[in-house]
Amino acid sequence: MINAPVRVGLLGCGNVGAGLVRLLTDDPEELAARSGVRLELVRVAVRSLARERRVTLPEDVVTTDAEAVVTDPDVDVVVEVIGGIEPARGLVLAALKAGKPVVTANKELLANVGAELFEAAAAAGVDLLFEASVGGGIPLIRPLRESLAGERITRVLGIVNGTTNYILTRMTEAGAAYADALAEAQSLGYAERDPTADVEGFDAGAKAAILATIAFGVRVVAGDVYREGISGVTAADIAYAARMGYVVKLLAIAERVGDEVAVRVHPTMLPVTHPLAAVRESFNAVFIEGEAVGELMLYGRGAGGLPTASAVLGDLIDASHNLRAGGSGRTTPRERARIHPVDEICSQYYLSLEVADRPGVARDIFAVLATHNVSIRAMEQEGLGEEARLILITHLAPERAIQATLADLRDLEVVDRIGTLLRVIGEE
Ligand code: HSE
Repeated sequence: MINAPVRVGLLGCGNVGAGLVRLLTDDPEELAARSGVRLELVRVAVRSLARERRVTLPEDVVTTDAEAVVTDPDVDVVVEVIGGIEPARGLVLAALKAGKPVVTANKELLANVGAELFEAAAAAGVDLLFEASVGGGIPLIRPLRESLAGERITRVLGIVNGTTNYILTRMTEAGAAYADALAEAQSLGYAERDPTADVEGFDAGAKAAILATIAFGVRVVAGDVYREGISGVTAADIAYAARMGYVVKLLAIAERVGDEVAVRVHPTMLPVTHPLAAVRESFNAVFIEGEAVGELMLYGRGAGGLPTASAVLGDLIDASHNLRAGGSGRTTPRERARIHPVDEICSQYYLSLEVADRPGVARDIFAVLATHNVSIRAMEQEGLGEEARLILITHLAPERAIQATLADLRDLEVVDRIGTLLRVIGEE
């Protein structure tokens, strides 16, 4: 039997907000029958009443006063899809303090000031749910938190930024230069005019912090994540990687190292046979490795109004059931993670060196690698004479050893330039 409606206050009516309005209003009867809860959209806060929207909202529902939505006694549950830290932070806190569950899609908010919000939710005994904050429409948080609750997860590898995955796909499949692929991503509406958050890995870094927190049960914040973006990757690197059997992806990597966790985002070479290598264009996917479950992968649309709204709606239904049952169904880790120092993280590396093409060059380079105990796994020379490059893939080495190797290689007379450094995931 379906009880009285749960009344929803929506903060923000952009792409995701408008998607949610559609999902809530298209066929409310069918949604209620399917979900067991009747959801009624009673207030929507927007920045400007004048702006044209993809959905039509009744006049008495729309307001520019977001605080009034949060404190309205007729609002039972609050959905925050404004994005950014303020005013979202203040509004979410006010809703929680008023004893209202909150559903948010805001990765930046959670990865930076999540602790304060989760404490407020716990103090009020209500839900703060955030499935849509990572991987858009892909169910990730709930599977990690519920289905895999008993699993000891060892590593999570994610393609969690669609814009960079689109750019790298175009560079791989069409040989496009980075700048051209970025311009194409901008014209398709994937990349912003200022693409920094996507291409320099900030967006993926916030998502990595949230995934690591849920996967390992210890709190990781955005500032804990080591981050490099894709703007230094060239079409030539991608072509060399392909010849050696790899694709280049911007990966979010969260792993256990003893009782510490290492969380990083950087361009990574993956064997073409790895399931993540097949994730093309703007799709996202997260590959999870657990001690008992082995390997599994979740794949889908990581952004976009309707896919993201689908995740918000799932949380909204969950929060409504919990509210009806009299409280919060979820807890979120409070203990801070012990972060593994970046210079101790071990990886295989790809190095591209512009070198002189004469006897003894490789010997000098090998000597530097040997000094730092870095072992070569594969090597190729590309081009001849002025165009000569040595492409190296190392065995596992700590970051500290690679950085010391690079510093010494820079001083070698036979090395003209050091190109991109990429981490490699593969068989050891
Ligand atoms: N800009 C992100 C992406 C979506 O390209 O995947 C929002 O997190």
